[in-house]
This record gives sequence, structure tokens and C-alpha cells, in this order.
Amino acid sequence: MNKDTIKIGLLGFGTVGAGVYQILTQNGNDIKRKLGVKIEVKRIVVRNLNKPRALAADRELFTDTIDHVLLDPEIDIVVETMGGIEEAHRAIASALEHDKFVVTANKDLMAQHGVELLKIAKEQEKNIFYEASAGGGIPLIRPLKNCLAANRIVKIMGIINGTTNYILTKMSCENMEYETALAEAQAKGFAEANPASDLEGRDAAYKLNIMASLAFSSRIKMDDIHVEGITEVKLRDIRYAQELGYAIKLLAIGEEKQEGLSLRVHPTLIPQAHPLAAVKNEFNAVFLEGDAVGEVMLYGRGAGALPTGSAVCGDIMEAARVIKNEVKNGIIESTFTEKDIIPLAEQFSRFYLRLKAQDEPGVFAQLAAAFGNAKVSLDRIIQKRSVEKTAEIVLVTHDVKEGNFMQALSSLRSMPTIRSINSVLRVVE
Ligand SMILES: NC(=O)c1ccc[n+]([C@@H]2O[C@H](COP(=O)([O-])OP(=O)(O)OC[C@H]3O[C@@H](n4cnc5c(N)ncnc54)[C@H](OP(=O)(O)O)[C@@H]3O)[C@@H](O)[C@H]2O)c1
Repeated sequence: MNKDTIKIGLLGFGTVGAGVYQILTQNGNDIKRKLGVKIEVKRIVVRNLNKPRALAADRELFTDTIDHVLLDPEIDIVVETMGGIEEAHRAIASALEHDKFVVTANKDLMAQHGVELLKIAKEQEKNIFYEASAGGGIPLIRPLKNCLAANRIVKIMGIINGTTNYILTKMSCENMEYETALAEAQAKGFAEANPASDLEGRDAAYKLNIMASLAFSSRIKMDDIHVEGITEVKLRDIRYAQELGYAIKLLAIGEEKQEGLSLRVHPTLIPQAHPLAAVKNEFNAVFLEGDAVGEVMLYGRGAGALPTGSAVCGDIMEAARVIKNEVKNGIIESTFTEKDIIPLAEQFSRFYLRLKAQDEPGVFAQLAAAFGNAKVSLDRIIQKRSVEKTAEIVLVTHDVKEGNFMQALSSLRSMPTIRSINSVLRVVE
């Protein structure tokens, strides 16, 4: 194809859209030299044309009508950075049907409708590139799709939400209370005005869905993932975890076992010596184990205008190469299978438990009996302190079946000597 310019339509000019525009403008000459073709932003779609914009872009480019991009035959690549589900879904499907390549940063959409959209792309002999949707600036999709594809991936374990990692870091390193750390994250732009999706673990679950689908070549549904956020993590647990030699991190974990897949997002105690324990503040990292490659860790910024824009621009360049070289839809993942999901009650884990009990003879024996009856063996049990005849007890179990642990917990709840169950967290070694 002897085009000297490839034109793109940018849907959205918020954090990510403006980051993409800034990179394409700043590094335009380099990008042209590398590709042998210029990338030109032909239109920018926004919701509100009158909104003041921090980044200057030619006013002529802006429109509030998506069809000005979708129906423009000169536009080859549609870059979706609007977010949301319905309109983004409609826009991407329509872009593919209008013979355009698509680049998106939309994790919510790719996690819930990715398989169906990729099918449309394949039928249209086009492609969807979605590198930014899983790791922001950290390359994860291409490593999983290409570089590590020959491996049987045994495990993926990652810190894939910057907001929660920032909060947990401030709590553990600066003794900050949860609410103060959240307010600081918002003030620094690491947490959105409505951070519920981050704090409740849904954002990490969307990203785990995208990564695990590729890693395990399976069509994963959001309901397959057990999700817990960090809203119940207390400073007290962070302190006790430190005393026991652990850090608390919000981990997204995907494992393939003989019985099927285990997929979960939850706050987790990990040994302080684990490489993921050293991932601080807004940084993200994903730790992978493949049967051939062994352990791999990818680290960087999982969000923000320029880091996310970096991944989106990489995708734009990939799409441009495909167009320039007239490659037919490139590598498109279409061979997903359905794998069994191991029910949570059947999964094995170690548990950390903090509770309050009456400080009187025989309580430890009652606890040991409740755990023993449920086939839960204890690794450590520590009485923290006793105030007004109430003892705080922290215990860590060995690897046990989740269902058995929950059975022990329910018998503890009915014991008159147990005043309260304060924290239940999982432990990964
Ligand atoms: N922020 C990050 O660091 C990050 C990282 C990885 C992935 N992502 C993903 O990237 C996407 C964008 O995130 P963001 O943080 O850049 O969002 P944002 O700052 O809220 O920007 C959204 C942009 O899209 C426009 N828009 C929204 N709905 C529209 C509609 N129906 N029609 C036309 N324009 C519309 C908005 O227009 P107005 O400006 O007129 O309001 C705004 O310019 C999301 O899918 C997000 O999950 C974000």
C-alpha cells in the first residue's frame, strides 16, 4: 500500500486520549521514521465540546458525533478511549463493520465482551488491539499472546491496580489510616473521584479476566472470578502481618490445576522477600510462571496518561504496520476453549485470622478443637494482648481447603467465648 499517511479517529480526549495525542504529537517524527508512514489524528470525539482542555489540540478536530469517525472512509484506525460499556461496544462493533482496525484501552469492555468483539474482528478480517486494557503501560497482552505462547502457563499473580497498591503502601510504610491514604491517592490523581471499582477489586478482576483468558486460552466470565477488595483491610492487620514476616497486597491470581482454573482477586499476605512485596505505591507488577520459561516478572506503571498512552500508541503503530504491509488480520485469538472453574470451597489456601476471645482458661483448646474438627491444621497461633479480659488472637493455618476453613469459622462464630471475628485474609507463600 503506498499511503504516506494513516489517519486515525480518537474516541475520547480524557486522561488516556489526551496522553495518546501528546505522544503522537511529541514523538510524531520518530514514529513516522520507524513506521515509514505518518500517523495523523483526523478527528477527536468528545461528549462536551465546550469543556476546557488542558492539552491544546486543533479545535477543528473536535466533534461530539461518533459517526464523524465511524463513517469517514479516510479513517483507518479507530482508537477508543471513552470508557464505559454500551456506547464503546456499539462504536467498536460499528468501526469493525466499517472496515476499520480498532485500538482500545477499555478493560471493562474487553473483559465482558472481548470474545464477541474479537469474533466480529475476525469475520471482518480486521483486528482489535487492546494492550493498554490489562497493564496500562506494562506490556502484558503481547508477551502472553506471542513471546510466552509456547508455554503452559501455570500461574499468573499480579498487583494490577495502582490505587489500592498506593493505599496499602501508605498504610504499611507510613502507618496511615485507610481513609487518609485514600484521600491522598485521590489528591495525587492515583484514584478516581469514584474509586469503588478499584477499592472493591473489580478493576483488578477485569484485568485478570483479560490476562487469564490469554494465559489459559479459556473463555473466562466475570462470575468465574472470586473478588474481594481492600475496604476491610485494617492497619492492625498490616502491622501483625509485618510481625509475621508478610506484606499485604491486593493480588489477582490465576492458576491452572488438574481440576481446572482458580481465579481470584483478594487482599493477600505474601512473604516480605517475595518480589511482589517490593512493588510499592502506584506501581504494578505481574509475576508469571510458565513450564518452559520459568518465572517472569513485568513491572511498571499500570495507569496514567503517558504510560497508558504509550501502550495505546504501540497498538496504533502495530495496526499501522498491518495496514501498510497489507497483512490480513494478523494474530487474532479465536481458539478459546471452556475450562472448568474450581469452586472456591474446593480451593486450597493458607488463612490468616484475627479474632477476639474471652481471656479465660480453655479457650485455646476450644479453638484448636474447632479447627481440628474441620480438618484445619494451624501453623501459628499467637495471643496478642489482653484488655479487660478480652484477648486478641492471631492465627495462620497450613494449606487447607477453603470449605473446611469456612466450616471452622462458622463453629467459632457460635462459640460463646469468641467475642468477634475481625479479619480473615488469605496467605500465599
Ligand atoms: N486513566 C487511566 O490511567 C487508564 C489506564 C488504563 C486504561 N484506561 C481505560 O481507558 C479508558 C478511558 O479512561 P480515561 O481515564 O481516559 O477516561 P476519562 O478521563 O473520563 O475520559 C473519557 C473521554 O471520553 C469522552 N467520552 C466519554 N463518553 C463519551 C461518549 N459517549 N461520546 C463521546 N465522548 C465520550 C469524554 O468526553 P468529555 O471530555 O467531553 O467528557 C472524555 O474526553 C477507560 O476505558 C479506562 O478504563 C484508563
